Amino acid sequence: MNVTVYNCREFDEEELFFRYAKELGIGLTLCQDAPDMDNISLANGSECVNIITSKMTEELLAGLKENGVSYLTTRTIGYDHIDMEAAKNLGIRVGNAPYGPHGVADYTVMLILMSIRKMKRILQRGSIQDFSLEGIQGRELKDLTVGIIGTGRIGRTVIHSLSGFGCKMLAYDLYENEEVKKEADYVSLEELWQQADIITLHAPLTEENYHMIGKSTISKMKDGVVIINTARGGLIDTEALISGIESGKISAAGLDVVENEFGLYYYDRKSDTLDNRELSVLRGFPNVTVTHHMAFYTDDCVETVIRDSLMGCKLFVEGKENPWEVA
Ligand code: NAI
Repeated sequence: MNVTVYNCREFDEEELFFRYAKELGIGLTLCQDAPDMDNISLANGSECVNIITSKMTEELLAGLKENGVSYLTTRTIGYDHIDMEAAKNLGIRVGNAPYGPHGVADYTVMLILMSIRKMKRILQRGSIQDFSLEGIQGRELKDLTVGIIGTGRIGRTVIHSLSGFGCKMLAYDLYENEEVKKEADYVSLEELWQQADIITLHAPLTEENYHMIGKSTISKMKDGVVIINTARGGLIDTEALISGIESGKISAAGLDVVENEFGLYYYDRKSDTLDNRELSVLRGFPNVTVTHHMAFYTDDCVETVIRDSLMGCKLFVEGKENPWEVA
């Protein structure tokens, strides 16, 4: 059997693809580019195609079908970049490759600590040999209340990791989880806005929670609140966030995701004039740490998605039960 892999990164993925393909007895066609109508014929001869976050439109899926593809796997947890309706109509099955929650959870804890210890300012000062102390006094987690929104796999892991720091934890989710109750107290969103010193987001972006942190919710929060987002940019109204930082209502933010990051993140744009003003403003604040949607990016994650996406292909071709198939 053969698998055609698109968006294969040479610097970290290629070697792993070769290793696991050999172990599983799979032939590979590797392409560094995203699938498009010009290179879709590379899938010819492969029953399975392996992609990352590039948009899979009806046209592209039809192109895959014409080339004999019947299983599409994505090296991600989410699959909202695939037109699932079209895939279903074309008879293409879809699989994903979920990785563990620890990478994002660790990163969240790091952003929390960086924010309350003013690490961006400390690093900026150190880089110009400004070794003064004024303005970089931090706070201790044991004295603070953390509000966790979304207690799924990542939110739960964050709660468990934070339990060692001695902070009080308030949680909110549409569905309560018994495990969480051992370490955090479920409260209403209203209570969470009012009582949390640090608010960290771990819910998926839906129509209902779009801009859940906005002008009106920020006004309910404690003065000096810290906001952490490693979930999705659209959960926060960026304009309202900027106003909150400018007024001092929000004392710090750690943002691994921002609105309108598509087209920027994962590309080298250092010589370009960017058209995302909000990102420039956020990056300019000394109390805001912005990173490019990479909380997931660990050795464990990369290895897991490559191994499991290929395993899914193998099980599909062999007609066996495939735990990675999502539709
Ligand atoms: P999950 O599906 O295990 O948990 C999500 C939780 O959010 C569920 O318990 C769900 O009930 C809850 N939820 C849904 N809507 C909600 C709402 N309106 N208010 C409160 N809670 C709500 O997902 P997981 O794996 O924990 O991931 C959480 C989010 O983290 C993902 O949806 C994704 O947006 C983000 N993520 C970010 C990554 C990064 O690199 N920065 C990598 C992976 C995921």
